[in-house]
Amino acid sequence: MLHGKRILLIVAGGIAAYKSLELVRRLRERGAAVRAVLTAAGSQFVTPLSLSALTEDKVYGELFSLTDESEMGHIRLSREADLIVIAPATADLLARMAQGRADDLASTVLLAADKPVLAAPAMNHRMWLHPATQANLELLAARGVGFVGPVEGDMACGEHGPGRMAEPHDIVAAVLDHFAASAPLAGRRALVTSGPTHEAIDPVRYVANRSSGRQGHAIAAALARAGAETVLITGPTHEPDPPGVAMRRIESAREMFAACRDTLPVDVAVCAAAVSDWRPAAEAGQKMKKNGGDAPEIAFVENPDILAGLSEPGNRRPALVIGFAAETESIVEHARAKRARKGCDWILANDVSQGTGTFGGEENTVHLVAAEDEEAWPRMTKTAVAERLVQRIAERLAGTA
Ligand code: CTP
Repeated sequence: MLHGKRILLIVAGGIAAYKSLELVRRLRERGAAVRAVLTAAGSQFVTPLSLSALTEDKVYGELFSLTDESEMGHIRLSREADLIVIAPATADLLARMAQGRADDLASTVLLAADKPVLAAPAMNHRMWLHPATQANLELLAARGVGFVGPVEGDMACGEHGPGRMAEPHDIVAAVLDHFAASAPLAGRRALVTSGPTHEAIDPVRYVANRSSGRQGHAIAAALARAGAETVLITGPTHEPDPPGVAMRRIESAREMFAACRDTLPVDVAVCAAAVSDWRPAAEAGQKMKKNGGDAPEIAFVENPDILAGLSEPGNRRPALVIGFAAETESIVEHARAKRARKGCDWILANDVSQGTGTFGGEENTVHLVAAEDEEAWPRMTKTAVAERLVQRIAERLAGTA
């Protein structure tokens, strides 16, 4: 599956360009977001309108269009992609890539990109077999460009030979292979808890907290992007479901714990939920009435500690258990103590003191506290925290394959 993957598709000028429309459809069916760059020659074969309708995005074409440059510079086009696919890749575009030219938007994007490139060449068989083209291919392959096709067959020009563009389903297969090979957590299972819990007082009232679920959801999304089969067990939040993640929605801490146990075994568990430490000792069966007098006194009992429970030794204990600590002072010292108390492997301690805007905000300042070492991460977005954490998880699990 390609959920959460962003593909920048460059459509150059060749009769095979009509197949790129089907390619867009097939990539999107598998969950990829596709953005298209159409060369001037490409627009002789397919219209920007059809590409735009299929990608449900603007189509980019003119290097010097002022609006495009201000809204979406060529650098951003490649920065916001996980993979660049060129289909069809003409002899001319391959030659310009090999030379490092930047004379239109497509070649400029390719020159400025630090992203992997997969090209599906399409051209007349004599052009394909020409030593100039073959030399360009060799050079590009040596620089890391991947190729799919071309295949042998009848050509639009009436001749027969190698040069036909690979079929869209073969290009999709090559894209899937690319992501499988670059997915460091492929074959791993992950569990993430996120959001607040709601602890019922009566059928209409509950005790909760201000957790937005943003960090936990971002971690689940990043784990899935890295290829892990990911289950997200979440309390009530307004966050959208991360793509490619199996959702388990719960309300209370006890439901969250039960859902975690059901999800085992996993290789890694990340407890990012702000679990309510306490719940009302008894949930009233009916809505509590005012009864014209004293306010009720609500007794609380402690909730199970999910992080500590998952960290307990046993054959179902995940290889890596990670918890969060929300602290307002002596952040690292408290996190060290919490790690030892809960028995987990890592604690990500974040500063939620007043003015940091961490709760419900976009950014987080994190310290990773492990038994063996500690790292202070710079202030960054919750998505960047998630990416960095997943990178660390992949490094750690690589040693336990
Ligand atoms: N956690 C959990 N289950 C609970 C409480 C907390 O899984 N019942 C997890 C959270 O998801 C988070 C970490 O434990 O990963 C946060 O711990 P925290 O609530 O800060 O721990 P406490 O022991 O309650 O620490 P403190 O008394 O400092 O608040």
